[in-house]
Amino acid sequence: MTLILGIDTSCDDTGVGIAELHPDGHVTVRANRVWSQTVHASYGGVMPELASREHVERIDAVMQDALKEADVTVHDLGAVAATSGPGLVGALLVGLMYGKGLAQGLDLPFHATHHLEGHIFAAASDADLQPPYLALVVSGGHTHLFDVPKEGQYDLVGATRDDAAGEAFDKVARLAGLGYPGGPAISEAARHGDPKAVPFKVPLAGQKGYEFSFSGLKTAALLAHRAGAKPEDLAASFQAVAVKSLVQTTTRAARDLGRRTVVVSGGVAANTALREAFQQTELRVVFPGKGLNTDNGAMIALAGAAAIRAGRLAHGLDDGATAYAP
Ligand code: KG4
Ligand code: ZN
Repeated sequence: MTLILGIDTSCDDTGVGIAELHPDGHVTVRANRVWSQTVHASYGGVMPELASREHVERIDAVMQDALKEADVTVHDLGAVAATSGPGLVGALLVGLMYGKGLAQGLDLPFHATHHLEGHIFAAASDADLQPPYLALVVSGGHTHLFDVPKEGQYDLVGATRDDAAGEAFDKVARLAGLGYPGGPAISEAARHGDPKAVPFKVPLAGQKGYEFSFSGLKTAALLAHRAGAKPEDLAASFQAVAVKSLVQTTTRAARDLGRRTVVVSGGVAANTALREAFQQTELRVVFPGKGLNTDNGAMIALAGAAAIRAGRLAHGLDDGATAYAP
């Protein structure tokens, strides 16, 4: 049994988690603690310098909470993993340096982890999840569709041309006066609205590829709002078309590439309408467990566990933080 500590400070959440890699290869989450920063609310977006400072102030307390939750001490850890990118460089550096220092001090192997690999492995506690599969990462920063033909290989088959899906949820919620964070606000308001009230068109309908686009929908939502659409109807109609676009394109890619399993992860994967729509397809759809959709440290620990299991714990202490990580 190996315990892996995972740290994510890529944006505005200070996340520390602990995963357990069992001798038979399956993994479980032992702890998952996240401190979500609220200092940005009055700015309407994340302030990078404030995010870095908050991570510095919080990371040790979050780490202690995670150890307590797992009922272990640092001396029980077998490896450390931390996000090295993509993200805000100053924010990333806090968790990365904290993790490296810990690994060096305790003489443990260290795994510099790609944030999106973390999102994908958030679903890894599902014992039956084995490549090949498709992975759709839908968050505030990403709408990326990967083909995963084998462990550790991620082939990008499609991405958004403009805004990420979560960003569109956040912006539509803001213009409709539904509050922040936008995803849960839209989801809640949509329960009381008519999804057919605003006739949004599915973006890139008829395309041969697997791209996504959300900026046109955002503009269409603004125009509908100005024309007097009710916030609940706007929320329901926007959510319906966003879900349709994500599900249709992913299903078509799965069919074309011969994949039967799809992992759907990232903050937007918490959306109930999206989950229900995917469950109605012929695909086997795997979602991360509770608390593992939005940014967290446990998903980084799970990615570290997968790297150990596959014998590719190779990055070591030399990797720096990178804002852009292809
Ligand atoms: O993965 P995440 O925590 O951070 C990034 O890496 O971006 O995702 C945050 C995004 C936000 O845009 C938020 O509005 C969206 O996920 N989100 C949702 C829901 N919960 C969070 N979007 C739709 N429905 C939800 N229930
Ligand atoms: Zn993320």
